Amino acid sequence: MNQERDHWGSSLGFVLAAAGSAIGLGNLWKFPYIAWENGGGSFVLVYLLCIALVGLPVMMAEIIIGRSSELSTVPAFEKLSQGVKARGLWRLVGWGGVATGAVVLGYYTVIAGWSISSFVQCLKWSTQGYGDPTPFGEFLGNGSLQVGLAALFSITTALIVMRGISGGIEKAARFLMPVLLLILSILLINAFTLEGIGKTLNFLFSFSEIGWAAVLEALGHAFFTLSVGMGAMITYGSYMPKGENIAKAALAIGFLDTFIAIMACIIMYAILFTWPEVQESMQSPVGMLFITIPQLFYTEMAFGRILAPVFFILVGFAALSSTISMLEVLVSLLVDKIKLNRKTATVGAASGVFVITALCALSNGASTFLTNFNPFGGATEGPLGYLNRVLFQNKTGFFNVLDHFASNWCLPIGGFFITTFVGYLLDRKLFDAELAGNPGIAIKGLRFILRYVAPLLIAIVIWGVNRGSGH
Ligand code: TRP
Repeated sequence: MNQERDHWGSSLGFVLAAAGSAIGLGNLWKFPYIAWENGGGSFVLVYLLCIALVGLPVMMAEIIIGRSSELSTVPAFEKLSQGVKARGLWRLVGWGGVATGAVVLGYYTVIAGWSISSFVQCLKWSTQGYGDPTPFGEFLGNGSLQVGLAALFSITTALIVMRGISGGIEKAARFLMPVLLLILSILLINAFTLEGIGKTLNFLFSFSEIGWAAVLEALGHAFFTLSVGMGAMITYGSYMPKGENIAKAALAIGFLDTFIAIMACIIMYAILFTWPEVQESMQSPVGMLFITIPQLFYTEMAFGRILAPVFFILVGFAALSSTISMLEVLVSLLVDKIKLNRKTATVGAASGVFVITALCALSNGASTFLTNFNPFGGATEGPLGYLNRVLFQNKTGFFNVLDHFASNWCLPIGGFFITTFVGYLLDRKLFDAELAGNPGIAIKGLRFILRYVAPLLIAIVIWGVNRGSGH
């Protein structure tokens, strides 16, 4: 089987594709809006700590699992847990990851679809002049538009995944990432000329109040933004050539990903602090990315009219390189496990996930039932009320509930098992061999973090949330 396994076409291939997976709506859409909701400063600091002490080590652990087994999530655990106690548990961790991936891909596709409509909107603004956008609430409430945009995105993802690893995924990532970085840099420079930049930096880099629920959100987002905790990096790692340095690759990806997330915050907050009316028109911060940036392009920048549509194409592609990685997890599992051919596997997986996507697309206003969806019937008292608070933070709406549960609970718990698996159960020789080429102290340090630091931190945060019962 190993002979047939596709590999990245070049030594940079893995880094580019994994960075493509990591960099996406998590950085451009989600992080700026949750950091805003959670009051900036301390939330950002906790997030950075979570990236360094938990997210990156788990990423390395996942790549180690993938590359040493040369298999995708579930079969990888099956192979590496031979002779280990409680093998069933590890198989379950694999399947749990796959299910989480399907859910994340499901709701992620909805936001990805918004990049298409923003692109079209910007084309209009560029040709006919910048004017009032459709109120965001109205856009969200348009069910057929929401489902249609998501469907377009889902089909595009499937068409690329069908073509295989080095053929589709790698080529796209290689070309698009640098352009995205370039446009973001231009936006960042512009943001620094705005009046609101002082307040922005103050908001981002000074201490603020933070509770356990926000700490869990920062931890969950560290997993989300690095695409770890559910096995995507196991799958990508399984295509990684043996000679490449796992630790270096993970550090590069983590650095780039974090850099872009902070950049995105500075750009958007500077706009919000400069033009309070944009902040008001935003209604809810969910659409921040799609509302703030056009303001900068169309009112401040000489070439904004040209760059604005290009920017939203790139947002779409950043999302695409992420949706591809999530779909690839499902597809490679179907291929490895039940020997489907790639095409059938892709069509099957994409259609299945689209059921979740459609429900999510309708849950931001279009369908009253889905918009008001509450787990446990919205219980506020008794054990169900407790669960509702702790697990879902009383979120309402199918989309919000899935997002909250998958990124705040499923990914950190998946991450907990992945780090303990590599830290305690994986054959020591295998571990050392996968990290060959790194200084011995670094290898020992990583092992220490995987055994003691990362799992403990995840456990502490979960304990804290329970103790604060979700507050
Ligand atoms: N990391 C991506 C982003 O920031 C999203 C993503 C891709 C993801 N693959 C994932 C999130 C796997 C969780 C799990 O946009």
